[in-house]
Amino acid sequence: MSKKNWIYGRNVVITGCSTGIGKQLTLSLVKDFGCNVMGVARNKQKLDALKEELGDKFDYRRFDIADAEAWNGFASELESIGFNTDVLVNNAGMIQDFCQFSDLDTAMLNKIVNTNFYSVLYGVSAFLPQIKKSNFGYIVNISSASAILPVSGETIYSATKAAVKAFSESLYQDLAGYGIGVSCVMPGPVKTDLYKTRDAGSADTAKKNYELVESIGITAETAAKRIIKAMRKRKMRVLIDSVAGLMDFGVRVAPSATSAITGKAMKAFCDKVPAFAPIFKDQIDNDAAIKEKIAARKSMTYKSLKDVPAGGPFGAKKDAE
Ligand SMILES: NC(=O)c1ccc[n+]([C@@H]2O[C@H](COP(=O)([O-])OP(=O)(O)OC[C@H]3O[C@@H](n4cnc5c(N)ncnc54)[C@H](OP(=O)(O)O)[C@@H]3O)[C@@H](O)[C@H]2O)c1
Repeated sequence: MSKKNWIYGRNVVITGCSTGIGKQLTLSLVKDFGCNVMGVARNKQKLDALKEELGDKFDYRRFDIADAEAWNGFASELESIGFNTDVLVNNAGMIQDFCQFSDLDTAMLNKIVNTNFYSVLYGVSAFLPQIKKSNFGYIVNISSASAILPVSGETIYSATKAAVKAFSESLYQDLAGYGIGVSCVMPGPVKTDLYKTRDAGSADTAKKNYELVESIGITAETAAKRIIKAMRKRKMRVLIDSVAGLMDFGVRVAPSATSAITGKAMKAFCDKVPAFAPIFKDQIDNDAAIKEKIAARKSMTYKSLKDVPAGGPFGAKKDAE
């Protein structure tokens, strides 16, 4: 067997197969490579339509990937029906609206972290025993270019994707000795429903986010083709588009400057790219006051900074209880 043909006919589990990149991966793995795909997502109508199109080589289960118990039950069920998983693709994820970190409430923080990061850990721990049994064991984790160059307004999304990247790179080393491969894919913008996301924000901001991606993104079909090409070569670090390539180049050559320029450019363009506006609205509204505060730094001396108010910097001492 040619080295790159290992993928033909494998048993694959893919999360987020109902739409976007996951759906295109599923279609190609079944139709072009004869794989048996067990998909995971929640939208029954979309999953049924995919089953209708793909027939016996595709089936699905519906559960929230942020639920660790659901992952364990899923893996046990597949084992009990004799479906030994060769390949796990942790693809499903959600984005946040572009906004300041302080505008996200704790419930949304937890939801993004659980969906984008913990789900990957749950998936790998539930399926590693099966993957270790396989002669063709492989894990693909879909991170993001924002793991390479985190961007303003996407603090938590970028942090979860950077966590997926670090986990994948470490896992790659852990599993190399077992002959199991790991790919970490870091896409730039891909034209999918991610930006029309239902639960992260309002329909209006979602529409604005999508308009931005429409103008610079690649299609989900192209993304899937490039991901499968990298899987066949068993590549660990996978960039699939020129935006991600440019971000990677900037960070390698001048990390601090690239980060600073990215933030400044987003602010400068926020009247032309409406999706960015909420990140900078407060700064723009209070521009004069912020500039005044920064200018005041110049007249501050070391001595004035050192002046301790009466009672000490932490106020009057409380009596010991
Ligand atoms: N599109 C981009 O520009 C881009 C860029 C960088 C990275 N990525 C990453 O690529 C991956 C795929 O994104 P996409 O663009 O294809 O997004 P998408 O079109 O919104 O698809 C997301 C998929 O994940 C599933 N999903 C989401 N939350 C889930 C949950 N809690 N439990 C189970 N399934 C869940 C959705 O299915 P249901 O709605 O049926 O549950 C859907 O099938 C994500 O990890 C994303 O972060 C995308």
